[in-house]
Amino acid sequence: MSRQTAIVEPPGLTTNRAPFIDEAQQKGEIYIRQPYELYSDENHEAWRRLFARMEPRWDRYANPHFLKGIHSLCLDPLQVPKLEDVNKFLKPLTGFQARPVSGYIPSFLFFDCLRNRTFPTTITIRPSNKLDYLPEPDIFHDVAGHVPMHTDKAFAETLVRFGECAHTAAEMIAGIRDEAEQVRRLTSIIKAMARFFWFTVEFGLMRANNGLRVYGSGLLSSCGEIEHAIDSPEVQRYPIQIEWAINQGFEIDHYQPLLFIVDSFAHLFSLADQLERWMREGKLNNVAPGEPEVNERDLKSFLHRAL
Ligand SMILES: [Fe+2]
Repeated sequence: MSRQTAIVEPPGLTTNRAPFIDEAQQKGEIYIRQPYELYSDENHEAWRRLFARMEPRWDRYANPHFLKGIHSLCLDPLQVPKLEDVNKFLKPLTGFQARPVSGYIPSFLFFDCLRNRTFPTTITIRPSNKLDYLPEPDIFHDVAGHVPMHTDKAFAETLVRFGECAHTAAEMIAGIRDEAEQVRRLTSIIKAMARFFWFTVEFGLMRANNGLRVYGSGLLSSCGEIEHAIDSPEVQRYPIQIEWAINQGFEIDHYQPLLFIVDSFAHLFSLADQLERWMREGKLNNVAPGEPEVNERDLKSFLHRAL
């Protein structure tokens, strides 16, 4: 009788099956370290394949600020990056830093991080047999999709400005006595902010000399959608209007049928300014219902200022 030795794969830091993350979440830890030694060969292989697929698409569809950014970060195409190393290149450029987190963080805390030039960054990576789509962010989305944009001064200032809007919202809400009205207004404001973020930072398009280019990180980290966003006749592409973006619901589980275009990052910055002005004027208090849902933790994070 022959005895078979079972080959046990190390659990690694694979999305939705990383014991290290489960443990941190059970303890309620939001900020964590990046235990680099836990990445498995499969994790590095997933990074390598994702990077190799995206490179030619970035050259063709990404905006020039992103291309410059990815170059300045010196990301290794062959291995999952160490956030410490990424930050060595990033911090001197704009003051931004990637900070490892255990997963979802409530929205006020997220926006407040941006205000403090910190980007909450997922450290797990999608399984190598699911490279195309994962509903939750992973380190490829966060580090290869978002962080290169943070090397650009104008873009970084916009994120900070957007983060400041969350404080304005929290201050305004604190001044309302009626609790039900507080929650109603806050739900509408968070929805407006989430939609603005979605249609710009995650899925934005920008005009460039050679046509439209992508600056949204959801597109910059998606092998299929980056091309679809620019070339497909099925996508509606319009110059951004803030009143439209904040009243437009979105769904996360399929390619986006509607995308908005900005002229430049100076333009994007002016929109974040406008968002705050509109918030103060009460124009975000009654946005159209629909996606995204605002959960209890998001509301509490604003009501108690990130506690
Ligand atoms: Fe993202």
